[in-house]
Amino acid sequence: MNKDELIDILSDNSKNDWLFKEADRIRHENVGDEVHLRGLIEFSNICKRQCKYCGLRSANKEIERYRILKDEIISLSKNAVNLGYKTIVLQSGEDDYYDTDKMCEIIREIKKLDVALTLSIGEKTYNEYKAFREAGADRYLLRIETTDESLYETMHPNASYKNRVECLYNLKELGFETGTGCLVGLPDQTIESLANDILFFKELDADMIGIGPFIPHKETPLKDVSKGDFWLALKVMALTRINMPDINIPATTAMETLNPNGRIIALQSGANVVMPNVTSTEYRAKYEIYPNKICLGDAPEQCRGCIEGKIRSIGRTISSEKGFRKKV
Ligand code: 5AD
Ligand code: FES
Repeated sequence: MNKDELIDILSDNSKNDWLFKEADRIRHENVGDEVHLRGLIEFSNICKRQCKYCGLRSANKEIERYRILKDEIISLSKNAVNLGYKTIVLQSGEDDYYDTDKMCEIIREIKKLDVALTLSIGEKTYNEYKAFREAGADRYLLRIETTDESLYETMHPNASYKNRVECLYNLKELGFETGTGCLVGLPDQTIESLANDILFFKELDADMIGIGPFIPHKETPLKDVSKGDFWLALKVMALTRINMPDINIPATTAMETLNPNGRIIALQSGANVVMPNVTSTEYRAKYEIYPNKICLGDAPEQCRGCIEGKIRSIGRTISSEKGFRKKV
């Protein structure tokens, strides 16, 4: 679809039923009915950045910070593997405690468990990404958040849009399966800019796209901004599926935070991945990117059982493979 077509559909809700059904059909035809589960470990909530929407921003003094060290990360990973996960996702704030050597050691240990490994630890240099890749990391998630350059730079003090884009192209060049995505509902974000986001995903030829509604956090500068619209976020996701039929698209936790059935609705509107939390319960509430995150009191085995039941209830199955993109 070109930009005008994307804008047309994004601004007209009368075609929503068609849009969600079409995205579901294209998902079924291209990536099938299997859902890939990725076990998410939120290993540090310490962050040097100041993203205006994010509860982990370093200016937030109201949260208790934590770091999970290597041995505990490995034991959480082993537990996830025992629960049947074929991919581990390591996510954190931008925490310089984990330097290249420490990260590479963790990567090598996890890769001994015969799983795919995804990193989601922010902007690093080309050489750092290269070291992670050589240590065995398979995938990397780095949302562009918005392709509106001036909005990007307003939302991310002291950060550069061009550097973010360069990071994504570096990751691609190094052979990572590369994931990006955007927030829907940032202040002053336009429909046109959401259309540009979708065109950017396609231009990059991203392998994974995560889309979520913005949810205001009271300890951030955006505390009084209204939350993003669940249905608009779902539309951006469905359009992404239609334009990129063979990629992996998660039903995001932020969607479920705004709609109690959000992940299932997303799985029926183009998504084929879910990323349940496998961090132990003691840390979960502290990884408060936004408020009211789901599953705060649930242990890894509970989430696994819960999501499996939900997926089966809509006639889908759980993949027993690592779930790499199969390019068509
Ligand atoms: N609401 C929704 N999503 C958020 N993220 C960060 N802060 C918020 C928020 N307030 C998303 C960003 C980031 C991902 C890990 O979480 O898109 O890339
Ligand atoms: Fe965590 Fe449902 S996925 S309890």
